[in-house]
Amino acid sequence: MDLYEYQARDLFEKHGVPVLKGIVATTPQEAKDAYNTLGGAVAVVKAQVKTGGRGKAGGVKLAKSAEEAEANAQAILGMDIKGHTVYRVMVAAGADIAREFYFSILLDRANRQNLAMCSVEGGMEIEQLAKEKPEALAKVPIPASGMDEAVAKDIAEKAGFDAETAAKVVPVMLKLWEVYTGEDATLVEVNPLVQTASGDIIALDGKITLDDNARYRHPEHNELVDHKAADERELKAQEAGLNYVRLEGQVGIIGNGAGLVMSTLDVVAYAGEKYGTKPANFLDIGGGASAEVMAKGLDVILTDPQVKSCFVNVFGGITACDEVANGIIGALEILGDQATKPLVVRLDGNKVEEGRAILKAANHPLVTMMETMDEAADKAAELAAK
Ligand SMILES: Nc1ncnc2c1ncn2[C@@H]1O[C@H](COP(=O)(O)OP(=O)(O)OP(=O)(O)O)[C@@H](O)[C@H]1O
Ligand SMILES: [Mg+2]
Repeated sequence: MDLYEYQARDLFEKHGVPVLKGIVATTPQEAKDAYNTLGGAVAVVKAQVKTGGRGKAGGVKLAKSAEEAEANAQAILGMDIKGHTVYRVMVAAGADIAREFYFSILLDRANRQNLAMCSVEGGMEIEQLAKEKPEALAKVPIPASGMDEAVAKDIAEKAGFDAETAAKVVPVMLKLWEVYTGEDATLVEVNPLVQTASGDIIALDGKITLDDNARYRHPEHNELVDHKAADERELKAQEAGLNYVRLEGQVGIIGNGAGLVMSTLDVVAYAGEKYGTKPANFLDIGGGASAEVMAKGLDVILTDPQVKSCFVNVFGGITACDEVANGIIGALEILGDQATKPLVVRLDGNKVEEGRAILKAANHPLVTMMETMDEAADKAAELAAK
């Protein structure tokens, strides 16, 4: 789960990372009040969206009066930044910035280690820095024993900090490592980490990605889930206990077993090259493909406006094909008028003949049966193009 900047700020504060005051506002009036509450001469109104490049998009604006904070919030709220609507801003105390740095810790899956990245040239987008001045970005693997002072000093040195600044930055790095490990994060990024005119080090912008697999260890993280911004379908699937990931194509996919669904995605993507169509989602309904579970799965997929056809790919095992076939028919009954898109069904495995006979007898106008996975994928991809 990615966090908003204001949530990252709060976790930073909890672990003793130096941050500035920030107040979340959802209306221009609240932003005006927030400016007054902060009490400083300068505040910054910042769009809260889970994407980068907010500043460039006009989502970060300086305010030197309460009226200006109000006007900035008016301009920023409702703005679209790379497909993300701004529902909140954070009114943050203004920093007197002398220098901007970059620091992050992330899980480097390919190399099975945690990696720190650091640069004395912060502020600019890290992808751009990595491309244009790769020598300015230090990448330092963190040993399995974790980040201690010696490791942090090494990172600071490799990033090009002078000794005096390094002495100030190292303790902040260690606090950020506490955030990373203590909160079970897979990314903690500070861009910019700044030094103020008076010499203090402050995390001015924060990005945190939490490891969802560790969520059970952090019941307090449930509060951080943003129901408004999360994909409506992913939430619905989550509530139904389904394993669902939304993609960008037109062919809905349902299968039983993650491996089968993965290969179904491949086969559909391949077949779709001919028709210009792609898989619309990953959905694994698991072992017990009852009518109810099938209905929940079909409901998630068929109500998705981007979906034009759906491929149901089931290999009967413990749950035999006759049960699955009954599940599909039952699901179409449950969905009624909501089911308007063609379904291509491929059944194989345990009791395949019985299953096919049930679908044949039901003779549902939306259902096309195919014998092999390749044929079915081709049919579904073709129907999605119509
Ligand atoms: N509280 C603040 N006080 C003064 N200047 C700020 C403050 N917050 C941000 N800035 C300035 O605005 C710039 C952009 O801010 P920030 O890093 O938060 O957004 P961004 O980089 O555009 O967004 P993202 O990190 O999502 O790409 C900073 O580099 C900094 O110069
Ligand atoms: Mg930033």
